[in-house]
Amino acid sequence: MPLTHLVNHQIRLAARPNGMPKTSDWSHTTQAVAEPLEGGVTLKTLALSLDPAMRGWMNEGKSYIPPVGIGEVMRAGGVGTVIASKNEQFTVGDYVSAGFGVQEYTTIEKDEIKRNGLVKIDLRAGSLTQWLNVLGMPGMTAYFGLMDVGMPQPGETVVVSGAAGAVGQTVGQIAKIKGCRVVGIAGGPAKCDWVVKELGFDACIDYKAGPGAVRAGLKEHCAKGVDIYFDNVGGEILDDVLARINRKARIIICGAISQYNNTAPVQGPKNYLSLLVNRARMEGIVVFDYADRYHLAVAEMAGYLKDGRMKSKEDIVVGLNTFPDTLLKLFNGENFGKLVLEVARD
Ligand SMILES: NC(=O)c1ccc[n+]([C@@H]2O[C@H](COP(=O)([O-])OP(=O)(O)OC[C@H]3O[C@@H](n4cnc5c(N)ncnc54)[C@H](OP(=O)(O)O)[C@@H]3O)[C@@H](O)[C@H]2O)c1
Repeated sequence: MPLTHLVNHQIRLAARPNGMPKTSDWSHTTQAVAEPLEGGVTLKTLALSLDPAMRGWMNEGKSYIPPVGIGEVMRAGGVGTVIASKNEQFTVGDYVSAGFGVQEYTTIEKDEIKRNGLVKIDLRAGSLTQWLNVLGMPGMTAYFGLMDVGMPQPGETVVVSGAAGAVGQTVGQIAKIKGCRVVGIAGGPAKCDWVVKELGFDACIDYKAGPGAVRAGLKEHCAKGVDIYFDNVGGEILDDVLARINRKARIIICGAISQYNNTAPVQGPKNYLSLLVNRARMEGIVVFDYADRYHLAVAEMAGYLKDGRMKSKEDIVVGLNTFPDTLLKLFNGENFGKLVLEVARD
């Protein structure tokens, strides 16, 4: 059957949200699948990575990547298979990771391949969904954020927020492997129990346990202060950790999910003078800057998965059409592990 007989269901950005995205911010469209030109490939989506960053891509304005345009297919990374190839580096049936977009099929032409990030993946190193988690973009964020910016030393205390999420679960496990004491911060007892009992964190603070819970938890579990804070959430939790940092502490600004749906201006850190007092630093990280070194981190993490020192948890929701509701799970804490949208069965 020619590819053009296949119907591609897509989800496009219909409007820029104000606060939490609504159903009316999306439109559902269909299109025939395009045959690739010389050097191009056509891919079938198997699973998509749902990421907090998607909320930022829906906003107008300057960022590290241009916003998704109104009427465009929503940007999304994913994993899938090659169903047509006019490129000698890809064969029908290959498994790949790529910028698929929130749709069932995508055709990537030759000069778009590098920019798109299309690469083959090896399922001997990890499962399809692990390629969206520990071996994929969140895992790379955890690895390079912690190792390059955090520079962990054995015996240091590392605190990570969003501890049971995609990035956080991997940050904590790498820090343990590197000989650090690790304290997570997460929402609710189930997530806190999991990071301690399953992932081997030394402690986890439930920030939803009541007012003052983070401050009290840090005092109890970081008696010698905090050397590295891997910040996924921003807001008040960042201020609470700033109040407990050690001299020469490193704070990795990875994300600030508590602020992404704000309708008021972003809340900056009130306790920033703690950086001065402690000769400490805060540094932002954008994972794409490390693309040339992903293969090194993937090899190291695949080794840890194989020898059992690294675990990964994915929260898989089925169905492309559920995308608008499923995305919201990230912002109300309903996802438990890396949020994945299964679009088609392998
Ligand atoms: N800089 C980069 O290159 C880069 C790359 C990837 C990700 N990131 C950032 O890394 C962070 C984590 O991303 P992820 O993909 O791993 O997501 P995730 O942690 O798997 O999911 C998001 C989690 O954030 C927590 N959360 C939501 N609202 C919160 C709030 N108001 N206060 C505190 N926690 C809240 C929820 O967990 P609880 O149940 O614990 O509240 C939720 O499950 C995000 O900020 C993201 O933007 C940055």
